[in-house]
Amino acid sequence: MVEVSASILSVEKQESLKTFYNLEAAKINYFHIDVMDGKFVKNNTLDLMIEYVRNIKNISNLPLDIHLMVEDVKSNINDYLDFNPNIITFHLEACKDSKNVSEIIDYIKQNNIKVGIAIKPETKIEEVFKYLPFIHMVLIMTVEPGYGGQKLIPETIEKVSKLKNYIEKNNLELDIEVDGGINLNNADELKKAGSNIMVVGSSLVNSENYTETVKELCKI
Ligand code: DX5
Ligand code: ZN
Repeated sequence: MVEVSASILSVEKQESLKTFYNLEAAKINYFHIDVMDGKFVKNNTLDLMIEYVRNIKNISNLPLDIHLMVEDVKSNINDYLDFNPNIITFHLEACKDSKNVSEIIDYIKQNNIKVGIAIKPETKIEEVFKYLPFIHMVLIMTVEPGYGGQKLIPETIEKVSKLKNYIEKNNLELDIEVDGGINLNNADELKKAGSNIMVVGSSLVNSENYTETVKELCKI
């Protein structure tokens, strides 16, 4: 069963409330919140995402899937604690060393929130293996983090199958989320490779009929 996490990065601001209503009505599984600090990636969405999450919380009980593309991971976690997110995902590349990774994992868990680790396209999947027993999800970026509306990098799909094999061999239980450039034409290949949560931004938000698009993605 594939779940859909709707990235709201490319939502038109003037239309945002209506779009959030419509996404929920279309039966997405999560709202995916792309937090960017202007340092880890060029774009800065810090204020916009807080505003959007506040609005979403007023109208929806759907779980929040927070994707932190930031250098200062801890202070950005703190900014979202009051919103009671389902999962917070941080980038492995933002951490100083493995001690720092473990500290962040523990900090998120202490706040009763699930933990995800994200990796950029050039980071080897093997680098997350040692953390898998302690986390709930791996987010494999299928584009360079920073912008919505990019084309999926096909070489990233092999990382999904490597991770899936490792998880099965080691009897672990984790979600595999993929993020960037996902649409109805490539979702099937990503599912076959082993991912079970698809982040979908522009291909959903720009589609004519959200309900149909979500239904088609879930059917895959
Ligand atoms: C990219 C973000 C994504 C992305 C999704 O840095 O993490 O969540 O923008 O949007 P689309 O589906 O348009 O690539
Ligand atoms: Zn994202």
